[in-house]
Amino acid sequence: MFFTPETRDREVLPFDPVKAIIAPRPIGWISTLSKDGLANLAPYSFFNLVGGRPPMLMFSSEGYKDTANNAIETGEFVYNYASRSLEEAMNASSIPAPAGISEFDHCGIERSESRLVAPPRVANALANLECKVTDVIEPKTVEGEKTGSVMVIGQVVGIHIDDQAIRAGRFDVTMTDPVTRLGYLDFGFSDGLHEMPRPEWTE
Ligand SMILES: Cc1cc2nc3c(=O)[nH]c(=O)nc-3n(C[C@H](O)[C@H](O)[C@H](O)COP(=O)(O)O)c2cc1C
Repeated sequence: MFFTPETRDREVLPFDPVKAIIAPRPIGWISTLSKDGLANLAPYSFFNLVGGRPPMLMFSSEGYKDTANNAIETGEFVYNYASRSLEEAMNASSIPAPAGISEFDHCGIERSESRLVAPPRVANALANLECKVTDVIEPKTVEGEKTGSVMVIGQVVGIHIDDQAIRAGRFDVTMTDPVTRLGYLDFGFSDGLHEMPRPEWTE
């Protein structure tokens, strides 16, 4: 079948399949601080690393939600690594908490101070990346209209790794077991890891 996003046959595909086609997606579990000092925490699966040197990452918000507003206003955010043991807490933190309520408190998620930025980090996460905002992009349609989404890009300025997550000199993805977002309300884990060497050009 072929269709354009506007002409999807809703009898055959009642739910938008695009997010299931771009899967698995890592989860950017993002903590921020409002300008009044309230700690905020929410998951974003429109999220990825966008550069390695220096490490840069982005999350994209469908509308100006608290995370994007806080990151833009304060210029800082923290990425928290969501592993299997934190899956429920990560999902719980997506609750649309009313103004003045911190998801850290509402969901009983322990926080620790960050070193180089003001927003706190998830204490039990096996890694946290402290970030400073570098770019804010409002993606537009091909007609040049605003989509309502906002993409926030940040540079990683500080890295926390729990020592138990390091094995043989590597951040061990099997041990740390990151949650990934599949389509719809489906989630997965990185089971069945294998190495694949890069191809080399030989004349
Ligand atoms: C796993 C997961 C991934 C999510 N990814 C996104 C996303 O990429 N963009 C978005 O706008 N909302 C996303 N959401 C919904 C937000 O987490 C939710 O709207 C949340 O209340 C936003 O909180 P905030 O206003 O404190 O930023 C996701 C929710 C879950 C559970």
